[in-house]
Amino acid sequence: MTDTPIAPAHQADHQKMLIVDFGSQVTQLIARRLRELNVYCEIHPFNRVTDAFLDDFAPRAIVLSGGPASVPDAGSPRPPMRVFEMGVPVLGICYGQQVMMQMLGGEVVRTAGTAEFGRAFIEPAADRLELLHGWFHGAREQVWMSHGDHVSKLAPGFAPYATSPGAPFAVVADPDRRFFGMQFHPEVHHTPNGPKLFENFCALAGFTGDWTMGAYREQAIAAIREQVGDARVICALSGGVDSSVAAVLIHEAIGDQLTCVFVDHGLLRKDEAAEVTGMFRDHMNLPLVVADESELFLGKLEGVSDPETKRKIIGGLFIDVFDKHAKEIGGAEFLAQGTLYPDVIESVSFSGGPSVTIKSHHNVGGLPEKMGMKLVEPLRELFKDEVRALGRELGLPDRFIGRHPFPGPGLAIRCPGEITREKLDILREADAIFIDQIRKHGLYDTIWQAFVAILPVRTVGVMGDGRTYDFACALRAVTSVDGMTADYYPFDHDFLGETATRIINSVPGINRVTYDITSKPPGTIEWE
Ligand code: XMP
Repeated sequence: MTDTPIAPAHQADHQKMLIVDFGSQVTQLIARRLRELNVYCEIHPFNRVTDAFLDDFAPRAIVLSGGPASVPDAGSPRPPMRVFEMGVPVLGICYGQQVMMQMLGGEVVRTAGTAEFGRAFIEPAADRLELLHGWFHGAREQVWMSHGDHVSKLAPGFAPYATSPGAPFAVVADPDRRFFGMQFHPEVHHTPNGPKLFENFCALAGFTGDWTMGAYREQAIAAIREQVGDARVICALSGGVDSSVAAVLIHEAIGDQLTCVFVDHGLLRKDEAAEVTGMFRDHMNLPLVVADESELFLGKLEGVSDPETKRKIIGGLFIDVFDKHAKEIGGAEFLAQGTLYPDVIESVSFSGGPSVTIKSHHNVGGLPEKMGMKLVEPLRELFKDEVRALGRELGLPDRFIGRHPFPGPGLAIRCPGEITREKLDILREADAIFIDQIRKHGLYDTIWQAFVAILPVRTVGVMGDGRTYDFACALRAVTSVDGMTADYYPFDHDFLGETATRIINSVPGINRVTYDITSKPPGTIEWE
């Protein structure tokens, strides 16, 4: 179910770049840089890239990624020789450069004492090279190195075009065959002028930047129609960007064959159910079943305080509820999900033999197996920001597209300890004020995610002439790129003071406000 098709039929019309992955931590960034240039690319692990695969994929150019292995080691990974026989430009990065040199007749050795890690500066070494056009602004250019091996002898046909103190072959090329190698990583932000190298590489390979959201929309719609035929599709709408964009796209493709189900588990934010349903039913005219199951969920969660048990209960009930509503609408052959590209990129396994680890993330885990449905995942080739661009293309309002992520278990994991209706009501009010403050100060789009957690502790306060004994709450606001790491947002003190006053003055039940300044790691974004 999670197997990536070798070359999705609907992408056949695009000019395609192939990224052969040797397991670098930053391979995904190569794809980011290329997509920013409107170049369609796919990442495939080296051990899946066979001659037949290459012929089928028909790349216009190939990038060989970095990786943790060492070329001089027996059994270190190699791409098929055919990569260099297809007549297309090849760019080798770090390990990719080294493996290219070794396979084409050069030599690679382990660096003794002079390995380069981190920031380095490279200087031009020879004549003009198309790949380096416009690259050097001054006498030298900052790059990011991370290597323990280096090329000691160039393959025939290659010459050095840039050097650094630790890497005499920082950039090498055989311009006739359009083979290029670089010891540094142009894909990371610490190589500030890196995007220019990708731009030059794409230009010399003849890419015209045909990967646009308008084109994607048309092709995705055709592909959905072909996959689904006249069968029925059901989609669990969470109100998040991914499932929303997937639903709107599928609706455009198959109209009323799609039914969306929005489950209100009683753990939503203030006015969330109304906002989401109003938006989809009234504004986008999407067939939508709203399942108010708050009594069921809150009932089953009563007295439960262990975070994992809460998650399991919520996940299990969700499947039951969805199943029930799917049956009510007469069953469905397909389940639509907003799975994104980072969720399906296969990571390279060096120890696990030919089978590679597949990261799979399903918003509705367990559903397809239990209900015997096939998946429709029209966003599985897109990154998050591309999904947002597609959402705009489909007419979803900006305010909706830019929404902060919201976890499936909802407020349950922002209410550490036992969940009560009283606590949820207090939490909703405080959270709405915090988000309103953030919007008012124009910070919503700068912050990746923000919310309030109600703490399982009552503290003493004085309000008016009396003492209070109410809940404390914590504000949480983070910056992040993907939620994997995060930093707390540095609000100024006036903002924090104003927000605390607003919450305490207008939310009965809260008499103390704290601000969580933990980064991730070591903390997590949510409190449970
Ligand atoms: P953490 O707390 O792990 O959160 O730093 C990272 C991101 O994931 C979201 N999150 C969840 N999303 N189900 C979800 O759908 C969950 O159980 C869950 N737990 C955390 C969190 O909101 C943040 O965006």
